[in-house]
Amino acid sequence: MPSAQSTLNSSQTGQWDAPADVTNPRWKLGSSFGPSFDAVLHTGDTYKFVSSLPSESIALVISSPPYNLGKEYEVPTKLQTYLGTLKPSLAQLVRVMSSNGSLCWQVGNYVERGEVFPLDVYYYPLFKELGLQLRNRIVWHFGHGLHASRRFSGRYETLLWFTKSNDYNFNLDAVRVPAKYPGKTHYRGPKRGQISGNPLGKNPSDFWEFLQDEWNSGLWDIPNVKSNHPEKTIHPCQFPVELVERCVLALTNPGDYVLDPYGGVGSAAIAALKNGRRAISVDKESKYVEIARHRIQDLERGQLVMRKLGTPVYQPSGKEKAARIPAEWSRGQ
Ligand SMILES: C[S@@+](CC[C@H](N)C(=O)[O-])C[C@H]1O[C@@H](n2cnc3c(N)ncnc32)[C@H](O)[C@@H]1O
Repeated sequence: MPSAQSTLNSSQTGQWDAPADVTNPRWKLGSSFGPSFDAVLHTGDTYKFVSSLPSESIALVISSPPYNLGKEYEVPTKLQTYLGTLKPSLAQLVRVMSSNGSLCWQVGNYVERGEVFPLDVYYYPLFKELGLQLRNRIVWHFGHGLHASRRFSGRYETLLWFTKSNDYNFNLDAVRVPAKYPGKTHYRGPKRGQISGNPLGKNPSDFWEFLQDEWNSGLWDIPNVKSNHPEKTIHPCQFPVELVERCVLALTNPGDYVLDPYGGVGSAAIAALKNGRRAISVDKESKYVEIARHRIQDLERGQLVMRKLGTPVYQPSGKEKAARIPAEWSRGQ
């Protein structure tokens, strides 16, 4: 996940809301796997925990693993050492996937002395060796981030969606998005003149735009919109809930298990529970697991403020101070 480094944001724009569809469902939370729990929040090592899960029990494994970048929760090592350390966990993740299940692996770049190593390129052969089949390499584009000076600034990461077999869940209707031209018609053939689109909307494609750190950009520096980002916690690289929601809705059915083996502050668990799935989230850092628990409790009370799924990415109107050419630049021109 790209880093989020500041706390400025928008919250009074009407784009952020507590979900109206979650009203005190009384989820049962546990810390180790058991059939009676709606959500398992486990503090501990991924390999050890996932090894204890039953085979073929998980409909969706979705995660953003550590990137070996030296974040507060990791010690960077050589790329091959990092991959070698994770490899046994990947085998366990594939073992626990159900036969019609999916694995979504969201990664960016590992960077060493300015050289870029795209992590999906390294993970693809590892999952392929374990028998998975790639369905999409999704580009997640975000508009803001660090500005590079010796290469082009990075503005996307990727999500590799693999399935365990050719017989897999894909609920496209659950994630359709509004068509740009819903009234478009077939222009030739037997259906000429008939509406060509789907009334439920179009396929969202493999290019996704979800906010990660819009609150960093300064575009939100507008009177009355300065307060903490609704989803932002102390975690340096958390998932936007809506990114996970799209995968949960498309790739699983109600009641299914969704596992995030590097669960951080529980964004995947929130996306799962909010949509009637069961959640398992593992992280070695107890402070993140504690925040995940609080976020789930807030969700249960209808008090967790999240960006609504499908909200268009904010476009500046041009009136914002930050969207205007600074006076210093226009002087003397
Ligand atoms: C990129 S973050 C994931 C953040 C998460 N998607 C969220 O929305 O909060 C990776 C997480 O993996 C955890 N982690 C790293 N190595 C681990 C291990 N061996 N076992 C369990 N958790 C680990 C870190 O503590 C960190 O929270």
